[in-house]
Amino acid sequence: MAKEQDKFKQVIAHAKEYGYIFSSSEIYDGLSAVYDYGQNGVELKNNIKNYWWRSMVQMHEEIVGLDAAILMHPKTWKASGHVDAFNDPMIDNKDSKKRYRADVLVEDYVEKIEQKAQKEIAKAKKRFGDKFDEAEFVSTHPRVVKYRAQSKEILGRLAKSLTEEDLDDVKALIEELEIACPVSGSRDWTNVKQFNLMFGTKLGASADSASDLYLRPETAQGIFVNFANVQKTGRMKIPFGIAQIGKAFRNEIVARQFIFRQREFEQMEMQYFVRPGDELKWFEHWKEVRTKWHQSLGLGEENYRFHDHEKMAHYANAATDIEFNFPFGFKELEGIHSRTDFDLKAHENLSGKKLQFYDPEMEKSYVPYVIETSIGLDRMFLAVFSSALKEETLEDGSSRTVLKIPSILAPVKAAIFPLLKRDGLPEIAQEIMDDLKWDFNVIYDEKDAVGRRYRRQDAAGTPFCITVDHDTKEDHSVTIRRRDTMEQKRVKITELKSIIQKEIDFRHWLDI
Ligand code: GAP
Repeated sequence: MAKEQDKFKQVIAHAKEYGYIFSSSEIYDGLSAVYDYGQNGVELKNNIKNYWWRSMVQMHEEIVGLDAAILMHPKTWKASGHVDAFNDPMIDNKDSKKRYRADVLVEDYVEKIEQKAQKEIAKAKKRFGDKFDEAEFVSTHPRVVKYRAQSKEILGRLAKSLTEEDLDDVKALIEELEIACPVSGSRDWTNVKQFNLMFGTKLGASADSASDLYLRPETAQGIFVNFANVQKTGRMKIPFGIAQIGKAFRNEIVARQFIFRQREFEQMEMQYFVRPGDELKWFEHWKEVRTKWHQSLGLGEENYRFHDHEKMAHYANAATDIEFNFPFGFKELEGIHSRTDFDLKAHENLSGKKLQFYDPEMEKSYVPYVIETSIGLDRMFLAVFSSALKEETLEDGSSRTVLKIPSILAPVKAAIFPLLKRDGLPEIAQEIMDDLKWDFNVIYDEKDAVGRRYRRQDAAGTPFCITVDHDTKEDHSVTIRRRDTMEQKRVKITELKSIIQKEIDFRHWLDI
């Protein structure tokens, strides 16, 4: 646990030191759970967006994009159910006065039980080596069976009481499990209350005529209300999808996990409209496609797992989370939901406008069903950044900090150095930079010894360093060094573009 916390602290410190993430309005002591992305952060963010957009929109003829406004007619949120049901159950500890999400307290308790099971599994794996049969072990080992049954029972009860809005039972569960406040260690809790997560704002100048609006808590509704516009103008045939990247806002109760849970964040969402009855087939399809997308980036298969929902959101008939092994454990990175026809039907009813598709094969109109893939851009950023940050011991016993961001996502693709600040070497390096910048984000650096410049770029996540030396003047070649292997090679200046291009080629990365 202490090790995990150290790693997390290191991630936060490194993100600041290398211009990735700053606290919002830091000179005024920051704003809780709001962050700014610095010079490297904005590049990484844009590259993640681009990788998602190209794989979803460019690679799918039947998916198109949209950029809807953040402010929407307030009836949108009535129809979608957010005004009445977008709540989190909260509970306060009377001694520390700290507020928690009641469901998260219970889930964290269950996670600790799961960690005990994982410990048993790891021990057995070590003992039995190649002969270890994990499936057999988890279904027969008495302690693991007991831990898993306990977890299932607790989560089942939590899901039931939340679905039935039985908040007294949620409190009873917390008390029965003897969950203590992580700050005060006390078990003196208030009752559980619902808390709406939407931020309200006003439209209009004068107080009397101003109307109440909300900052959107998800981008999805912008897609639903534009369903007919896009379907008709794009002559889209079912099945088809609409993709969008944009800001969302939630007044989160528990907001202390860096960019994991923010009050202002970005989502990358896609709604896929299908024939009623086909939705579970498409649900499986999108689970598979999205899993492949994640695996294509090479963050480690062992860092992902699925978590099927026990308690569905008010709109869903199937839902799963893709969880990632963040520095604080496995948590939701992406949600895949089968949203039925809930949203389109609700908007039809409240607006009085038809949101249907005439299916020529079936010779009838219907309200399509929807599969949604929804990933938090900031969480993806944290997944990439935290898994990339490594401390390595080198052959000579020295150590280096390296940020092994997948090169297609790296903010800067290459740093160009003159070996010395004289003898015409800076001019050649600058010339190379001026040529490469037409194709890639590159930087020039002449400060300090080359070894230190390498270390600086390793820590910043730059996949290539290119050094110009005295031989360059004779043979027009340079030394190119790779961040991950530290391998150095002599190549012609004219080859540089194709070497970098090959390394960050979209097809090479996505087509696994
Ligand atoms: N349209 C469906 C929807 O919004 P969600 O599970 O509430 O579903 C989808 O959110 C994704 O948005 C999550 O998987 C997560 O990655 C991201 N997300 C949600 N709340 C967030 C927050 N407060 N900060 C950062 N990312 C968040």
